[in-house]
Amino acid sequence: MRLKRWIIGGMGAVAVTGAAFFWFAPYNIAASVPHLPGVGEVLHQYLRNAVRVRANRVEVPDHVDLDDPGLIRLGAGHFATGCQTCHGAPGLPRNPAVEGMRPEPPMLTSDDFEPEEFWWIARHGFKYTGMPSWPGEGRDDEPWAMAAFLSHYDDFDRAAYAEAAFGRAGGYQSAGVRFGGLPGAIPQELACARCHGEDGLGRDGTAPKLAGQSQGWLETVLEAYATGHRESGFMEPLAAPLSTETRSAIAERYAGMGGTWQGRSLPFGDAERGRALAWQGDEHEDIASCASCHEGTGGGLMPKRADTPRIAGQDGYWLVNWLHLYRDGPIPETPRAHLMQAAVRNLTDTDIADLAAYYAQKR
Ligand code: HEC
Ligand code: HEC
Ligand code: HEC
Repeated sequence: MRLKRWIIGGMGAVAVTGAAFFWFAPYNIAASVPHLPGVGEVLHQYLRNAVRVRANRVEVPDHVDLDDPGLIRLGAGHFATGCQTCHGAPGLPRNPAVEGMRPEPPMLTSDDFEPEEFWWIARHGFKYTGMPSWPGEGRDDEPWAMAAFLSHYDDFDRAAYAEAAFGRAGGYQSAGVRFGGLPGAIPQELACARCHGEDGLGRDGTAPKLAGQSQGWLETVLEAYATGHRESGFMEPLAAPLSTETRSAIAERYAGMGGTWQGRSLPFGDAERGRALAWQGDEHEDIASCASCHEGTGGGLMPKRADTPRIAGQDGYWLVNWLHLYRDGPIPETPRAHLMQAAVRNLTDTDIADLAAYYAQKR
């Protein structure tokens, strides 16, 4: 009996102390006041442990090459869009405004984490710190570009970073893109050329090819990014500020560009088997013929309908990502995405690799 009374009394005391702590809030949460000695270090070590434990289960996908210069440039490009404001960049100090954050967003180095850990941090972010999760909800493929860039971060100085993230010509005004005179002012970080290339051919593998793609498809997909109907951490923040007229004008420019699409292949995938599958489909597995929609005019390079995207000559990397996107989600909420969802839902990973191999090398 006595023991029970002690226990109840003890619990009461804890509850009262807890309530008093909660009410009078003695721990100062002002960012202007440093943590009590040791508290910041303990929290930071906890954060590192939490990352290590979770990243242990993360594996680099087969089609991701962390040393691919295109993937590294893409990571640098997105770093300029979404990370530099807080973390500074190679050779560029942080904005003094963020030094008042607690925890402070540190200058980064490649030594701090393994690539899988960088992926995990970019994908998930940290609660209670201001460090955001990946803006394209569910896009597990995209943060690999960031992991590639951060793993090579220390190799960059200011000039090399500017070249990787923005391109030599500084994007928008250059003759190749000819975007001068579009409605609405377009700031430099929105310059499409820094990833899609001056010629719309994807800047050597940094981003998908757009030159000569149909205007209808470009308008549809840009609207989907702008309105959150196709998840992408790269494109949503860039498309969102563009007005409908600006999006149409950009789509028209890209649709009017020429150029040969030379898709970069991946080191695996059987293009011959991919060709057979693309043409015949597979009745038993309920796989539709890709060619019936995607190979129409122009020697089979252009699709049958203008609202279907061209895929022949796109890089294997993008084809793999997109086939996973339509098979595994997050399924885009574009008007005709259900057609693709039905066409790819029974593809195996091998089918995807083979189809990507076929379409990447198709000229
Ligand atoms: C709004 C500010 C903000 C933005 C934007 C931001 N971060 Fe952070 N980030 C933080 C803060 C704050 C921390 C510190 C957490 C800590 O150490 O307790 C952090 C921590 C990190 C760390 C761990 C560093 C370490 O040594 O602990 C990495 C890596 C990182 N961020 C990468 C990125 C990347 C990549 C992006 C862009 C996709 C990004 N951050 C965007 C605020 C930001
Ligand atoms: C930081 C690099 C980057 C910049 C800058 C960028 N893009 Fe993209 N873009 C990408 C990536 C990566 C994808 C693939 C996204 C996906 O998988 O959904 C993409 C996809 C697209 C697509 C869809 C292609 C398709 O066939 O599915 C269009 C259209 C597009 N971007 C247009 C633009 C326009 C217009 C701009 C300028 C306002 C722009 N992009 C700026 C990286 C970028
Ligand atoms: C019934 C017609 C149809 C069939 C069959 C079809 N597709 Fe598609 N495909 C489309 C349409 C329409 C889209 C655009 C979907 C959207 O609005 O999001 C698309 C989108 C794609 C994309 C994304 C391209 C981009 O630029 O974002 C890829 C890759 C693709 N298809 C590959 C394939 C492959 C491989 C097959 C065969 C397994 C296939 N498709 C079968 C109509 C089809």
